[in-house]
Amino acid sequence: MNLSQKAIGIFDSGVGGLTVVKQVFEKLPFENVIYFGDTARTPYGPRSPEIVRKFSVQDISFLSTQGVKLIVVACNTASAVALDYLKKIFQLPLMGVIVPGSKAAVKATKNGRIGVIGTAGTIRSESYTKAIQKIDKNIKVFSYPCPLFVSLAEESYINKKATYLIAEEYLATLKKKKIDTLVLGCTHYPLLKNVIVKVMGKKITLIDSAEETAIEVKKILERYDLVKTSRFSYSHKYYVSDFPEKFIQIGERFLGERIKVVKKIDINKY
Ligand code: DGL
Repeated sequence: MNLSQKAIGIFDSGVGGLTVVKQVFEKLPFENVIYFGDTARTPYGPRSPEIVRKFSVQDISFLSTQGVKLIVVACNTASAVALDYLKKIFQLPLMGVIVPGSKAAVKATKNGRIGVIGTAGTIRSESYTKAIQKIDKNIKVFSYPCPLFVSLAEESYINKKATYLIAEEYLATLKKKKIDTLVLGCTHYPLLKNVIVKVMGKKITLIDSAEETAIEVKKILERYDLVKTSRFSYSHKYYVSDFPEKFIQIGERFLGERIKVVKKIDINKY
């Protein structure tokens, strides 16, 4: 098979990576995409780096059996704590979400003060701070974990008073830091954009790591002449490690379209 015809593999700890898939569909509408959501072991955010690395190795091992041309680590936590490790193990082209989000934030900031929010694992790893300061060491980065945002997004608690109160509390310190740019460093946070803007104010530029990652995927495929040329047939396949019903129910909201077929696999075999 011509390499460009192969699918883009995308994985996440569960349903959240569908925000990345949504952006990939928008920017590369004719690509074959194979998604794996590790729904049996979600969430990754509160787990240790060792466990997230171990799970990510299995996730990629599964995707690599599907004959993919590029694998996107859509999960911010896995990108933060496992990407460098994974790149040493696998020969396949791999990319994460941290660098695209960081590059966009550096481009956007005018006052050199950037905020980052994500899961406990992502924030603890300081990987956004390192990636941002690798581009410009003078930039000040202020990062805070907002773990409850994951459940709120999954439970569709989008326009609720409770969500607003939690956001106010989580973001109170960040609000005082005079940032002009805020990175949404978690797959789920794009769903809470409205609440975050309401709390942080309209002047803050929000960086959606999912969107920036899709832009980067497109650039990489173009650079290596790997964009799928045929526009007539393409497929989107979804795999999960626990029962598909809940994934479909929440996933359609994250993806903004119908998910017809989802297959369950035994991730422990990989
Ligand atoms: N996908 C995860 C991330 O972007 C959020 C959900 C989880 O904790 O697994 O960090």
